[in-house]
Amino acid sequence: MILRLVAVLFAMCLPAFAFGQGAVGWKTGREAAAIERRIQALLGRMTLAEKIGQLHLSGRGDGFDESQIRSGRMGAVMNFVVPAEIAAVQKAARESRLKIPLIIGLDAVHGFSTYFPLPLGQAATFNPKLIEEAAYWTGREASAAGINWTFAPMVDMSRDPRWGRVLEGAGEDPFYASVVAAARTRGYQRGGVAASVKHFVGYGAGEGGRDYNSTWIPTSQLHDLHLPPFKAAFEAGAMTAMAAFNALNGMPATANKAMLTDLLRGQWRFKGFVTSDFGSITELRLHGIARDDAEAARKALLAGIDMDMMGHVYHKHLAGEVKAGRVPMQALDAAVRRVLRVKFHLGLFERPDVDPAAAPALMQTQAARDVALRAAQESVILLKNAAEILPIKPSVGSVAVIGAMARPEDERVWTDPAGLGRRIVQPLPEALQERLPAGTRVSYAAGVGKACGTEFADRQGAIDLAARSDLVVAMLGEDCEFMGEGASRTDLGLPGVQQALLEALVATGKPVVLVLATGRPLVLSWADRHVAAIVQTFHGGTEGRTAIADVLAGKVNPSGRTPMSFPRSVGQIPVYYDHLPTGRPQQIRQRYESIYMDEKNEPLYPFGFGLSYSRFSYGNARVERVQVPLDGTLEVTVDVTNAGERDGQEVVQLYVRQPVASRSRPVRALKAFEKVQIPAGETRKVRLRVPARELGYHDDAGHYHVEPGAFEVYLGGSSSASVAASFTLIKS
Ligand code: NOJ
Repeated sequence: MILRLVAVLFAMCLPAFAFGQGAVGWKTGREAAAIERRIQALLGRMTLAEKIGQLHLSGRGDGFDESQIRSGRMGAVMNFVVPAEIAAVQKAARESRLKIPLIIGLDAVHGFSTYFPLPLGQAATFNPKLIEEAAYWTGREASAAGINWTFAPMVDMSRDPRWGRVLEGAGEDPFYASVVAAARTRGYQRGGVAASVKHFVGYGAGEGGRDYNSTWIPTSQLHDLHLPPFKAAFEAGAMTAMAAFNALNGMPATANKAMLTDLLRGQWRFKGFVTSDFGSITELRLHGIARDDAEAARKALLAGIDMDMMGHVYHKHLAGEVKAGRVPMQALDAAVRRVLRVKFHLGLFERPDVDPAAAPALMQTQAARDVALRAAQESVILLKNAAEILPIKPSVGSVAVIGAMARPEDERVWTDPAGLGRRIVQPLPEALQERLPAGTRVSYAAGVGKACGTEFADRQGAIDLAARSDLVVAMLGEDCEFMGEGASRTDLGLPGVQQALLEALVATGKPVVLVLATGRPLVLSWADRHVAAIVQTFHGGTEGRTAIADVLAGKVNPSGRTPMSFPRSVGQIPVYYDHLPTGRPQQIRQRYESIYMDEKNEPLYPFGFGLSYSRFSYGNARVERVQVPLDGTLEVTVDVTNAGERDGQEVVQLYVRQPVASRSRPVRALKAFEKVQIPAGETRKVRLRVPARELGYHDDAGHYHVEPGAFEVYLGGSSSASVAASFTLIKS
């Protein structure tokens, strides 16, 4: 332990370049002014082709033309992960006439060499510091390989688990998602890579949960729900942004001047550049707003897209558009200036290039793996634990671990860019055996094949093993093509034959612990009725299975919380906690109330929910001042007691409601939270603060209002917390 601490401290003290490039971010004052002068001077020396080159982002693979870099006709590359190759392309840029370095991008979404839980799993930790550290190590490893730009964080809000990309986000709540967006942005940039906050904007609201689909979002909802995480990321210093694929209210995001220019650059004063998403400029033809690629290029540039990712349309058509006078040189210069600005602020002109020989030693360091382990441990959500079957008792003589996911060959899941380094995954059966008493025998059977659970693998063998054991741990879920981009689903059950396998395991009569690794909340209604315990994870990464074993064996007390509501059935979607009240609320469940005839209104597991091996109780909730001025701060204290026998962490959550206002306000909305460690039997006084200016809403014109009046406060360990106190917001 001491040795490890010394190693970590030593690593922290080494010069920044040894581990990548050190923190990056916007410079201010004189430094920023000097950069503007350098940009101006450089721009003055650039030919038309060199200017357009800065807006051309091309990727490793077929058709990649390195000579374009040497001739100053490519300013950005993506999908390079091998340091020697990165060094080679950067060298080519430094040998071009103006020696403008490349910005080198990658989807380093939840890791580079060390993998952390999927972003939705990181969100389940409700631990922003830990989330920031995961992003930091991702940035630091990527930067050590020579990458200087990540296509993350994705901050799209979604309340529709049919959408495969909910796994890249932070769940359903705009306040929490904003906290996470800022933490991830800070982490990446501290680690040495510029963040690209994406996808601007509304991508998560695709109709029917179908990827790339149109979104229709009223202005008030755009500002209250979808824009806050972007704003938080920019306030945290995000240096670039990526536009979305979808059309927002009829206007494709890639040509949406109102969003990209008027709001982002105008109102928000964003100084960085915006890239298109993969080929989305040419897709403007398919959206039906451009006749050909030349028109698509023109519309995108004039709307505010600075960089063309993998579309090759700026490269092919912008010169013609400028020469014909359809794209003013001024507009082109503005885009080039924004790209150069980011390159200068990143320090690319001064940075030494990556040393390929040094990179491998900087991957999967112990310090990174320690963070990966903690993040994986804290991301585990205990959804059900009947008769406290978990943690596994010493009296359990034999455990059958079933499911190919428990023993994967690799922990690369959808978003992984095939990063560099060793991937060390401890399989679940071995990890569990190590942690359980010597007298407990752990055995394993796959039950389902590796093909994403679509076929059985010795089904009977798995059932027989279960029948011979005292306890069954079934690790099932989604991987392969069932989650991530382009993986929208209408059926949110376990894919393939896994439900059939689960039912057969339950039919043995042995208690079944269902461990899930998924990219989204699944519909778990059957499992909730029939299995003894449910442990939810969102693919925990390099240390994922170690963390699961820690929780099952009781070495770690689970503290993850649901970042999204878990629906009871697909028909309930969208289901989220901060909905508006109706004039016909559910009361006695009779026909003319706002209910379903065949289903409850409430989700199976609400937002913010998760069990622990401890029991927490709340008392003495107190609002410090019952009258809070508009320019003041609401302060609430509450005593939280760990009434269990184990030390544990509780996520103390504060929700508010304004019951009467000029327009309908949500039945409750999260405004503050804190994750606190409380030793067994002890009480902690937790103080939560909410600036009064955060209690408002946007109207149909996008204007923000905070209205004086009475508010209710709810405090507890999930979004179903009961009412605790009240206060009045008064004019200052
Ligand atoms: C398309 C995805 O929408 C985007 O998020 C990603 O960054 C790019 N592909 C690049 O891989």
